[in-house]
Amino acid sequence: MEVQESYPFDVEAVRADFPILDRKVGGDPTTIGQDDSDDIPLVYLDNAATTHTPEPVVDAIVDYYRGYNANVHRGIHQLSQEASVAYEEAHDTVADFIGAAGREEVIFTKNTTEAMNLVAYAWGLEELSAGDNVVLTEMEHHASLVTWQQIGKRTGADVRFIEVTDEGRLDMDDAAEKIDDDTEMVSVVHVSNTLGTVNPIRELADLAHERDALIFADAAQSVPTRPVDVTDLDVDFLAFSGHKLCGPTGIGVLYGRESILESMSPYLYGGEMIRRVTFEDSTWEDLPWKFEAGTPSIAQGIALAAAIEYLEGFGMERVQAHEELLAEYAYDRLTDLGYVDIYGPPGDERGGLVAFNVEGVHAHDLSSILNDYGVAIRAGDHCTQPLHDTLGVAASARASFYIYNTVEEVDALIEAVSGAHELFA
Ligand SMILES: Cc1ncc(COP(=O)(O)O)c(C=O)c1O
Repeated sequence: MEVQESYPFDVEAVRADFPILDRKVGGDPTTIGQDDSDDIPLVYLDNAATTHTPEPVVDAIVDYYRGYNANVHRGIHQLSQEASVAYEEAHDTVADFIGAAGREEVIFTKNTTEAMNLVAYAWGLEELSAGDNVVLTEMEHHASLVTWQQIGKRTGADVRFIEVTDEGRLDMDDAAEKIDDDTEMVSVVHVSNTLGTVNPIRELADLAHERDALIFADAAQSVPTRPVDVTDLDVDFLAFSGHKLCGPTGIGVLYGRESILESMSPYLYGGEMIRRVTFEDSTWEDLPWKFEAGTPSIAQGIALAAAIEYLEGFGMERVQAHEELLAEYAYDRLTDLGYVDIYGPPGDERGGLVAFNVEGVHAHDLSSILNDYGVAIRAGDHCTQPLHDTLGVAASARASFYIYNTVEEVDALIEAVSGAHELFA
């Protein structure tokens, strides 16, 4: 059976929702729109960095600015009420999507990084002190690693890392040792943006809770690509970014368990997050607004809900099936080349991305040659420098897939990688 026959949905129909995929590349990137020398079909395989935006999501943004642009929460006039209802209901859409109890547990942030910083500052600076520890993994993204590292320096808490095995999995024996009675927080990436490893969050949550520690799941790569339910995972915090699931940039989500959010002080102070202010003191709005100071990203929040509704049209199980199909196919074809080192677990045990190096070709050169073929991948450390240190490489190339990618595009990747290898051999 052809791999294409196993697609869980009609990929050509999906592609029609993303006009950018019809773009040609090859011209001078500094003259956008003025250069007519673009003539190579785009093969976009950089979805772990950011995904494209389908027409219904673009429409949601345009409808807001054309139809009911206004500030939220504070207005009595009709436009403000319409904007407020749409913005507030977007929180409900997110809550339903991730299995949260309600909008109280859903805080809109700028992105995953800001969600991590919110918890690190508002919870970490208050709760951590010398003698405590925070447990991360060697495969954390800098968004979590740098944040907890710096909070550790300020509070005196020890920051320790669960080791990664040679197969790219978490060493769960090491996890059971490192999470101890002094652990206050376990912060773990759900799907690694470099290894593609899918970490056992529920098992880690149980380990953390047995020691009365909290757990924070970095779901930047998992919420966009598979069903994620905060109740099933039993996490205390979880974060993801809108721009990695067909939404716009400038909007992210922090899920927090209501009782913990209630006990935390705000992270940012100002308008929209207060109830009563005097010259002497202030009191705070209810959740989630207590953590959303100032004018929020209104259009982006509304468009995030549109993106979630768009993905729910496929069903996240089928999104996951498509991701896995392409990742496994790419893994097998890259392996067959015989001169490619792939990082992370086998093809049938990973999220929708493959990071690799081609013998004799630096990842940046590879990415640049692939660009000449119209193939967009990422090269570098993918914000996991310490993990690359443990892998013994400075950089890697990464191809990552989404709902609109096809088997033919993976074939185009392989052809371009072969071309690059020939050039350097
Ligand atoms: C696993 C992981 N965590 C965190 C982030 C940070 O996301 P953002 O840059 O949207 O804050 C990323 C982005 O690549 C990621 O892949």
